[in-house]
Amino acid sequence: MKIAVFASGTGSNFAAILESIKSKQITDVEIVILVSDNPEALAVQKAKDVSIPVFTFRVKDFSNKQAYEELILEKLSQKQVDFIVLAGYMRLLGQVLLHAYDGKIINVHPSLLPAFKGKDAIGQALDYGVKVTGVTVHFVDEGMDTGPIIAQQTVEIVSGETRDTLIKKIQEQEHRLLPEVIQSLANKEAAK
Ligand code: GRF
Repeated sequence: MKIAVFASGTGSNFAAILESIKSKQITDVEIVILVSDNPEALAVQKAKDVSIPVFTFRVKDFSNKQAYEELILEKLSQKQVDFIVLAGYMRLLGQVLLHAYDGKIINVHPSLLPAFKGKDAIGQALDYGVKVTGVTVHFVDEGMDTGPIIAQQTVEIVSGETRDTLIKKIQEQEHRLLPEVIQSLANKEAAK
C-alpha cells in the first residue's frame, strides 16, 4: 500500500512510520511522498534525509484551498497514493482531497476524542484536570478531529505530571498506535 504522509511540524510520527517500515514491524507499506504546507518543517528535512519525495507549498501562494489541493492531488496521483496519513498536518482538508480519497484518510490526535479537539489537546487535558487522556487514530471527514474512530489508547495523567512528561507518554503511544493502524489498513487493502 502506498501512502502519503502530511505533516506541518516536527514529523516524529512520520519518523515513527519510517522506522516501523525499516524494522519490518510493518510490511507492504511504502511512504511515497511527504506533503507539507511548511517548507521549513523538520518533517521535510527528515524526508529529504532519507530521500523520500517531498511536496511543499505555501498557502499564501494560492487563491484558495481548492487550488492548492488540486495541485496536491496531482502529485498524489502521480505517485499512485492509496492512503493519506495526516500526522500533525495543521489544516482542515477540503472537498478536493476528501472526495478523491473518501474513506482513505486517517489522522492521529493526542487525546481521547471526542474530548479535546483542535489545537493543544495535551494542554487542554492538563488544564481540565482529567486523570486519563490518550491518543486517537480516526478517519478524516470535513470536521476538525471528527470522523469515525479506528483505534484509541489511554494514557494516565499521574500526580506531578508536567506538560513535558505527558507529551513524552502521548508520543510513545502515538508512535506505536499509528503504525499499527496503518498495518491493519494495509492488510485490509491486500485482502480486497
Ligand atoms: C501529534 O501529537 C499528533 O497527534 C498531532 O500533531 C502532533 C504531530 O507531531 N496531530 P509530529 O509532527 O508527528 O511530531
